[in-house]
Amino acid sequence: KTHSVSTKTHSVSTMATEEENVGNVKRQLAKLFEVSLRTIVPDEPEVEPVVVACAGKFGDYQCNNAMGLWSKIKGKGTDFKGPPSVGQAIMKNLPKSEIIESCSVAGPGFVNVVLSKKWIAKSIQKMLIDGIEKWAPQLQIKRAVVDFSSPNIAKEMHVGHLRSTIIGDTLARTLEFSNVEVLRRNHVGDWGTQFGMLIEFLFEKFPNIEEVNETAIGDLQAFYKASKQRFDDDPAFKERAQQAVVRLQGGEPKYRNAWLKICEISRKEFHRVYERLGVHLEEKGESFYNPYIPGVLKELSDLGLIEESQGARVIFLEGFNIPLIVVKSDGGYNYASTDLTALWYRLNEEKADWIIYVTDVGQQQHFDMFFKAAKRAGWLPTDDALKPKVTHVGFGLVLGEDGKRFRTRSSEVVRLVDLLDEAKDRSKTALLERGKAEEWTEKELDQTAEAVGYSAVKYADLKNNRLTNYTFDFDQMLNDKGNTAVYLLYAHARICSIIRKSGRNIEELKKTGEIVLDHTGERELGLHLLQFSENVEETCTNLLPNVLCEYLYNLSEVFTKKFYSNCQVVGSPEETSRLLLCEATAIVMRKCFNLLGIEPVYKI
Ligand code: ARG
Repeated sequence: KTHSVSTKTHSVSTMATEEENVGNVKRQLAKLFEVSLRTIVPDEPEVEPVVVACAGKFGDYQCNNAMGLWSKIKGKGTDFKGPPSVGQAIMKNLPKSEIIESCSVAGPGFVNVVLSKKWIAKSIQKMLIDGIEKWAPQLQIKRAVVDFSSPNIAKEMHVGHLRSTIIGDTLARTLEFSNVEVLRRNHVGDWGTQFGMLIEFLFEKFPNIEEVNETAIGDLQAFYKASKQRFDDDPAFKERAQQAVVRLQGGEPKYRNAWLKICEISRKEFHRVYERLGVHLEEKGESFYNPYIPGVLKELSDLGLIEESQGARVIFLEGFNIPLIVVKSDGGYNYASTDLTALWYRLNEEKADWIIYVTDVGQQQHFDMFFKAAKRAGWLPTDDALKPKVTHVGFGLVLGEDGKRFRTRSSEVVRLVDLLDEAKDRSKTALLERGKAEEWTEKELDQTAEAVGYSAVKYADLKNNRLTNYTFDFDQMLNDKGNTAVYLLYAHARICSIIRKSGRNIEELKKTGEIVLDHTGERELGLHLLQFSENVEETCTNLLPNVLCEYLYNLSEVFTKKFYSNCQVVGSPEETSRLLLCEATAIVMRKCFNLLGIEPVYKI
């Protein structure tokens, strides 16, 4: 049987052009396998190449199409005798490429690929000259909204918001790096009935609230708690609080000003945390969407989606045993009406094609429900593979050492600022124990303590699959051994010091030196470096920061255990090549740090 190479332009839906994928080995191989598949089964244009990294002794990557393809074509008068012969054909029809050193077929038709070490070396050298941005994935998304952090006014930011802030920031950074325009949205809870009781309570305390300075109000959370107590205990207060909501929402200046003031105080508090964490967000709180709610509800109502139920206005959704309430029986709007409206705004005004919400898994049902309502309204395609798309990025609980929800000793909610203070203090103590007080200035000490401390908190969170609960443990996260930010930061600093101590000008070497991967340790490190892009891409597509953490940790392990412990760098005949490998490792590690919101340190 002879086949000409199919010239059909059909390609894997998310696949960009070759030039755009210079860093992504998996995609480049998939392109080659695609040519082969189109050649051997031109009548099956829907079959997409499946290529996986496989770090086995038979190869670096594997194409797994043979079995699936066989079950599609058997009995249809094919010449193939079974999956292994399909595998053979896939292998034989691969176009010639400098990427591949050799191929073999194993078991039920797996096609194993050994990459060319020359090509690996060349790709790394190219990255050293062109910059790591050349290895950025090209996602088929133009503009994404990442809705994250989103604390509530007058309530303290707690560890749950810490998770949302850290995970959301990493996702935003990773998407941005992958050439997506990202709108970072802080969906602050700044509207709702709780303001009635808080304002009423503050009016009692401070009759001239306009003149009171902010520090006097200071601890808003305490006032919030006290006002809630009053609300529950005192029916007359409750009555006044409910009145206050009506007056606030009616726009009465006295109430509106008090509300503005409360928001401003909270906002400043939040910003102190964001500044410490190096997180940037644009606030579009719940109140922002308020004016749009009636119009959006009218649209839904005109579509016949909204019904009357027990005095409330609701949307009944298949598969849920409760309806989605969009107007409460007292006529007020709620979390769902705001979220539906925010979604409408993000789709129609902001023209986002991917909207991502980062909250604890406890809110899963809320998201499932209003996503479903939006699909019924025709705002979103029913097929989740199509755009625009929405995703709820849920995460689990942070637990204390007792295995219960993380609380302070007096069982209060843990305040974020206190956590960050402690992280910094503890890492400073560790630096002092290492005798850094003599070597470093006070400023250097403080900066490093902050970088290390906050990074430790972030990494301890990000390295877990976000859906699982994890135990908050300072001792563990600040350990300089094991899978921690401290270990990784030190590993990176050590690599930098190898390069510094060589006395060679690394920028010159990048231009003139050559990378050679003859030792297995060198080759393994080179291959791992080249897998950066596909790991970043997986982090984006599955919204899983732990994938990137795992990649980073493995890179550091491969560097130390496979490469550095077997391959002498300074003073060896391979010094130039090996210094370039060190530099490439440091660059990739720094990019991972950057995507994880971690500040690198250069000396330890
Ligand atoms: N303020 C909410 C909370 O603290 C989170 C908001 C998440 N974003 C959204 N669009 N619902 O639980």
